[in-house]
Amino acid sequence: MPSKISRLILKKKNKSKIVCLTAYSKNIAEEVDKYTDLVLVGDSLGSVLYNFDTTRKVNLSMMIEHSKSVRKGVKKSLMIVDMPFNTYKNKLQALKNCKKIIKETKCDGVKLEGGSKIKDIIKHLVNNKIPVMGHIGITPQSQRGRFRYKGKTEKEKKNLLKDSKILEEAGVFAIVLECIEKKLSKKITETIEIPTIGIGSSKFCDGQILVLDDLLGLTNSKIKFVKKYANFKSNIRNAVKKFGSDVKRGSYPSLKHSY
Ligand code: KIV
Repeated sequence: MPSKISRLILKKKNKSKIVCLTAYSKNIAEEVDKYTDLVLVGDSLGSVLYNFDTTRKVNLSMMIEHSKSVRKGVKKSLMIVDMPFNTYKNKLQALKNCKKIIKETKCDGVKLEGGSKIKDIIKHLVNNKIPVMGHIGITPQSQRGRFRYKGKTEKEKKNLLKDSKILEEAGVFAIVLECIEKKLSKKITETIEIPTIGIGSSKFCDGQILVLDDLLGLTNSKIKFVKKYANFKSNIRNAVKKFGSDVKRGSYPSLKHSY
């Protein structure tokens, strides 16, 4: 098992929280990498950067190009890339596309959305030495209709717990739990031996992930679990406004900024 992955698993054993964030480009990834254990090139880039209404519109070449850029900034964290929708429909297709992503981007592994339905695909990838991260709860690639957290009904609870065990057995090295009710997240985290990484799934997970642009206040996200740690939107606005007024009154460029 690659050492960065073993380190992540050891963190769970040592009860040391795992810090994860998304990044879609080099300059940002460079800063994120300093304080994270794992950097995810998420297919959330579809909505965040491209204004798509669904992550289903993200394709392989978009993921590859952004990941190549992120690779240049990530030195110490584990770098994981989301497999986009329709790129892992069967074992052969999944293996071919995962190999392509890993070869072209030099990432450390991939993330696939889904539980028991994709267990054979995951097993096939793991048997072929592809490090795989799971993702259950809200899985945006298959999400339809209104947003609702998962683990409300007994049936849902049973299925999610079962899915987490199936994914562990299939060989994933960690599982993202997205918007799963807190008692269930706790139970899953205590039941499986691999790390759980929560997003909207309470403090009981072994680690946490957020979409960086949400945390920076660059998106207009009003999602309950998002905590804004900065207000980059207004920082950008203020800087651009100041540049505009400097240009208009002739104070930029000054002699200092001229050859
Ligand atoms: O696409 C993404 O960014 C993700 C994380 C938010 C978990 O899947």
